[in-house]
Amino acid sequence: MSARVRELVVVQNPIMTDDVRPPGVLLIRRYEAADAGDTWRVFQAAVHGTASRDYTPEQIQAWAPATVDEARWQQRRSAAHTWLACLDGAVVGFSDFTDDGLLDMLFVHPDAGGRGVARALVTHVLREAAAAGHHRLHVHASLTAWPAFERLGFTVDATRLAEIRGQKLQNVDMSITVTPGDGGDLDLD
Ligand SMILES: CC(C)(COP(=O)(O)OP(=O)(O)OC[C@H]1O[C@@H](n2cnc3c(N)ncnc32)[C@H](O)[C@@H]1OP(=O)(O)O)[C@@H](O)C(=O)NCCC(=O)NCCS
Repeated sequence: MSARVRELVVVQNPIMTDDVRPPGVLLIRRYEAADAGDTWRVFQAAVHGTASRDYTPEQIQAWAPATVDEARWQQRRSAAHTWLACLDGAVVGFSDFTDDGLLDMLFVHPDAGGRGVARALVTHVLREAAAAGHHRLHVHASLTAWPAFERLGFTVDATRLAEIRGQKLQNVDMSITVTPGDGGDLDLD
């Protein structure tokens, strides 16, 4: 994979079936319960394959252990407003926002990294959050993701140590103002 997705079409709803969707088109669509396994695999690959450059093996193992309670994972993705990025029939990334204004998840498979998938997802999440009445979104960004969030318009509020399964991980609290009409330069409608 090499071309940036901003050069491709992004559509909001899965109105095209796989057999008519042109290759290389990025699809942004709502998460469904059947997507639990795919999102877990993207999470695993993103943490172990990308975030591992910024955290120790022990921290990575605590963040993304090999096994998951899939019912609980599914419940958390469904409880948030979760959106998927799909490319050529595969889930390559996902992001979300919660009712209390937290962008909780942003993960892109390393094979699809550096092409604008996160930008497309976050642009869409900001637009949906604004439409839902939010004025500001917060994120506990990883050291890996904070430069991307900064590039996407988030500003740093504080640094923090998050504790997960006995490991302390450095995070960066960031936030962004969202306004109706947010959506950047991508045509998502
Ligand atoms: C962080 C992550 C989501 C980025 O996904 P991505 O699809 O590769 O990001 P994009 O290609 O959309 O990049 C978005 C913007 O951030 C910039 N960017 C991304 N990483 C960057 C870095 N390390 N330094 C500087 N800029 C960076 C890109 O250049 C791009 O800017 P542009 O569109 O203005 O050119 C992905 O690397 C990932 O999943 N990381 C591991 C998991 C993780 O830490 N998730 C966050 C948990 S809070």
